[in-house]
Amino acid sequence: MENKIPVLDRRPVVLGVTGGIAAYKAADLASRLVQAGAALEVVMTPAAAEFVRPLTFQALTHRPVAIEMFSLLQDREIGHVALGQRAALMIVAPATANTLARLACGLADNLLVTTALACRGPLLVAPAMESGMWHHPATRANLETLTRRGAFVVGPEKGRLASGASGEGRMAEPETILDAACWVLGRSGPLAGKKVVVTAGGTREPIDPVRFIGNPSSGKMGFALARAARDRGAEVTLIHGPVALRPPYGVACHAVATAAQMQEAVLAAAAEADVLLMAAAVADYRPRAAAAQKIKKEAEAARLELVRTEDILACVAARRRSGEAGPAVVVGFAAETEELLRHAREKLEKKGLDLIVANDVSAAESGFEAETNRVVILDPRGGVESLPLLPKREVAEAVLDRILPLLAAR
Ligand code: CTP
Repeated sequence: MENKIPVLDRRPVVLGVTGGIAAYKAADLASRLVQAGAALEVVMTPAAAEFVRPLTFQALTHRPVAIEMFSLLQDREIGHVALGQRAALMIVAPATANTLARLACGLADNLLVTTALACRGPLLVAPAMESGMWHHPATRANLETLTRRGAFVVGPEKGRLASGASGEGRMAEPETILDAACWVLGRSGPLAGKKVVVTAGGTREPIDPVRFIGNPSSGKMGFALARAARDRGAEVTLIHGPVALRPPYGVACHAVATAAQMQEAVLAAAAEADVLLMAAAVADYRPRAAAAQKIKKEAEAARLELVRTEDILACVAARRRSGEAGPAVVVGFAAETEELLRHAREKLEKKGLDLIVANDVSAAESGFEAETNRVVILDPRGGVESLPLLPKREVAEAVLDRILPLLAAR
């Protein structure tokens, strides 16, 4: 299924829901976790059940929802202990100030906190409360206790609060909490301890203060690669052009605009990196000089003098050849409209790459803005592997699968 996320697929996850207005958003989170493949169990506090009916979560998870402390499951396991012990991760969303305090003290007087105490996996909390409560020294101290003990915190964000006021205390969006859960679960994955640099999106070369030469790259492929590398435990730096995408949780993002800015950022990050995945659509030419003021339409025809930008990958390859520090594995992307394999192989060789991922951008389903991609992966030994049409997230997983053995061989 399309929404499955490997790091969550078939993993036992407990979602604890506490009594705040954001509890209604926890239903969306539960749905996303189930779609990602998680074996999800929901525990609610009695106060949460005042906001959202347990039936909502039961319908989403197809499992009974636990609220009562002293109910025994059919198989006669002690409910909370069994739930906690099985969990690879417990998420508390929303986490009210009250529940954060209970968790910090280990005050196990409801099923949710008791389950958290029995849980051997990591704890991820998504606080949600009024700004005053969030900034109160008591809440700060409780949170510090929890994080010192190894808990992870996602959010809260700034925005409109239940009171109608605006401030810090809004629960992180469900998709951000899901993203944070992937990061938490992926930490000890096969790329743990490795640094991966990913580039994404297109660059913009200014003509004047209000115009530029650009391309329609959406950044989706690069963002999917960054998430896939993060979910395998890598420390990821994502260098991207202007995009309209949510930054991946747990990834260091670096926004740039021009090819020269991207080059500077990539060369700095690549010196320390183990892997470079160059998915960005970098401009090959830029106006020789950008006009200082908006160009007026006067002449009937206008000319723009363009000069070549530097090839970032070729630069990284040259540094590798000269023995300077650089990534052990370098992967390029080739977006073509004709003669896909011939052009891709030429780039693989010319740029000294370990792999090249080629796709035909003239096809709607594998174009710049598509959610899907159909790629061919080429290696320097003459290997050619065609993948079927897949969501970009799955293409990213396939690329990462091929990087692990290359890294191990270095
Ligand atoms: N690339 C780069 N620096 C550039 C241009 C491209 O590092 N100035 C990288 C891209 O990020 C991609 C690979 O090179 O990983 C191939 O990019 P592509 O635009 O397909 O190839 P070009 O080398 O620019 O060749 P052409 O435009 O002639 O097809």
